[in-house]
Amino acid sequence: MNLMLMLFFSGIVACCGNSTGNPLSRLLLVSFDGFRADYLKTYELPHLQEFIEDGVLVRQVTNTFITKTFPNHYSIVTGLYEESHGMVANDMYDADAQKTFSQFNDSDPFWWNEAVPIWVTNQQGNRASAAAMWPGTDVKIHNTTPQFFMKYNFSVTFEERVEKIVTWLNSSNPPVSFATLYWEEPDASGHKYGPDNTKNMRKVLEQVDNHIGFLTSKLKALGLWDTVNVIITSDHGMAPCSAKKLIILDGCIGRNNYTLIDKSPVAAVLPRQNKTYVYNLLKNCNDHMKVYLKEEIPERFHYRHNKRIQPIILVADEGWTIVQNESLSKLGDHGYDNALPSMHPFLAAHGPAFHRGYKQSRMNNVDIYPMMCHILGLTPQPHNGTFRNAKCLLVDQWCINLPEAIGIVIGALIVLTTFTCIIIISKNRIPSPHPFSRLQLQDDDDDPLIG
Ligand SMILES: *[C@@H]1O[C@H](CO)[C@@H](O)[C@H](O)[C@H]1NC(C)=O
Ligand SMILES: *[C@@H]1O[C@H](CO)[C@@H](O)[C@H](O)[C@H]1NC(C)=O
Ligand SMILES: *[C@@H]1O[C@H](CO)[C@@H](O)[C@H](O)[C@H]1NC(C)=O
Ligand SMILES: *[C@@H]1O[C@H](CO)[C@@H](O)[C@H](O)[C@H]1NC(C)=O
Ligand SMILES: *[C@@H]1O[C@H](CO)[C@@H](O)[C@H](O)[C@H]1NC(C)=O
Ligand SMILES: *[C@@H]1O[C@H](CO)[C@@H](O)[C@H](O)[C@H]1NC(C)=O
Ligand SMILES: *[C@@H]1O[C@H](CO)[C@@H](O)[C@H](O)[C@H]1NC(C)=O
Ligand SMILES: [Zn+2]
Repeated sequence: MNLMLMLFFSGIVACCGNSTGNPLSRLLLVSFDGFRADYLKTYELPHLQEFIEDGVLVRQVTNTFITKTFPNHYSIVTGLYEESHGMVANDMYDADAQKTFSQFNDSDPFWWNEAVPIWVTNQQGNRASAAAMWPGTDVKIHNTTPQFFMKYNFSVTFEERVEKIVTWLNSSNPPVSFATLYWEEPDASGHKYGPDNTKNMRKVLEQVDNHIGFLTSKLKALGLWDTVNVIITSDHGMAPCSAKKLIILDGCIGRNNYTLIDKSPVAAVLPRQNKTYVYNLLKNCNDHMKVYLKEEIPERFHYRHNKRIQPIILVADEGWTIVQNESLSKLGDHGYDNALPSMHPFLAAHGPAFHRGYKQSRMNNVDIYPMMCHILGLTPQPHNGTFRNAKCLLVDQWCINLPEAIGIVIGALIVLTTFTCIIIISKNRIPSPHPFSRLQLQDDDDDPLIG
């Protein structure tokens, strides 16, 4: 009984004790762009495998729709669906503000201010954030950048980014408790060669793995390896595409009927005059493309309630490409339906907050945000994630996963059956010696003390 109580109370302490935050908790969030979940099975990645063996792995992460880079990186750091954080595509148009957004012109805070990313929240106490090129970290979101950041420049090598980040993590006044690190591969090669080109993908994934080795050795050399929590994840996967799978809009609709705000594989269409007319022309255009009026977009995409989502969107089937009349210059793409396994990245994590050698099959990328807030002891902003989905990864949480629960139930059944058998057998063996014992017992019922 005492033991049960102790377990119960330590459970409560473990659950709720961290809400004030461990003052020493530090977290580095790393993204390797376009790292499809199954690359981990297909390729040998010794440094990443070692990282996972000593930490946790989530084999597949369901990302947000549309499965593009900017929208998903913002979902990871806000815990919000795209309709709720406002970064709904890599190319956007806001009709009210008459502003346009592109990956190459992304520094207007207007586009980012619909949400508060974790690096801003993290700086509201006496703590700093640092960033090496995670999308949005060089923008003054709610008037704040991370205290340490680098202006986005794809020419800066991975090693230079790591050197900066570890130096910042090592600084202490104020302590840097949250940091991000971003790298463009294997996305760039996935687009260029296609994800199924194992020869070229092996080469780039070996480089990515060496980068992970470089990062861990740097952290070890500075004595940060055992104290800093590190999450390695990605924004989306990659599907092979082909010049044989083109959906050519010019064959269905004249260009003057509409403006194409965002392109394949989810195209955003702004009709010029007659929406119904444009919709009807597109609806009958190609069997490999779904056409939705904004209000018809399936609920499961959580991609409707934002004015930056255009009146008509076109969603290509996996592997298909929407063009006006252009030829195809790539062999891999992403952006497709977020239910497709090819669009999913993975998540691995290591550090004092995480178990060692634990693996689980799934979580959502919006669940990463409440998990990070928990580790840092931050009060999360309103979000769409479920902390419960991350509990099994964390050492300070109570969690029973399904296989364990089934094991416990089966075990309990076996024990119960065994006991029942023993009791039945022993009862059958020993003949009842006192035929009047029951009568005697009934006599005892008169005792007022017992009643
Ligand atoms: C970047 O976007 C701003 C705001 O939409 C616009 O005024 C500016 O002309 C754009 N710059 C470039 C180089 O496209
Ligand atoms: C980007 O980085 C490269 C390599 O460090 C440097 O040569 C170049 O000047 C940088 N570009 C900008 C715009 O800062
Ligand atoms: C890390 O911090 C320690 C103590 O403040 C300092 O001696 C060391 O030089 C720092 N290392 C780096 C790479 O900044
Ligand atoms: C709209 O598209 C239709 C079908 O291609 C074409 O006949 C018509 O001329 C276009 N209208 C405009 C204004 O471009
Ligand atoms: C818009 O197009 C539809 C279908 O082609 C047509 O029935 C309707 O009259 C048009 N509306 C206007 C205002 O032109
Ligand atoms: C695509 O369409 C544009 C505008 O109509 C035209 O100038 C261009 O030559 C076309 N390109 C091809 C490859 O057909
Ligand atoms: C996602 O979270 C935001 C902020 O709490 C909320 O407004 C929105 O309704 C949520 N979306 C869904 C689908 O629950
Ligand atoms: Zn990406």
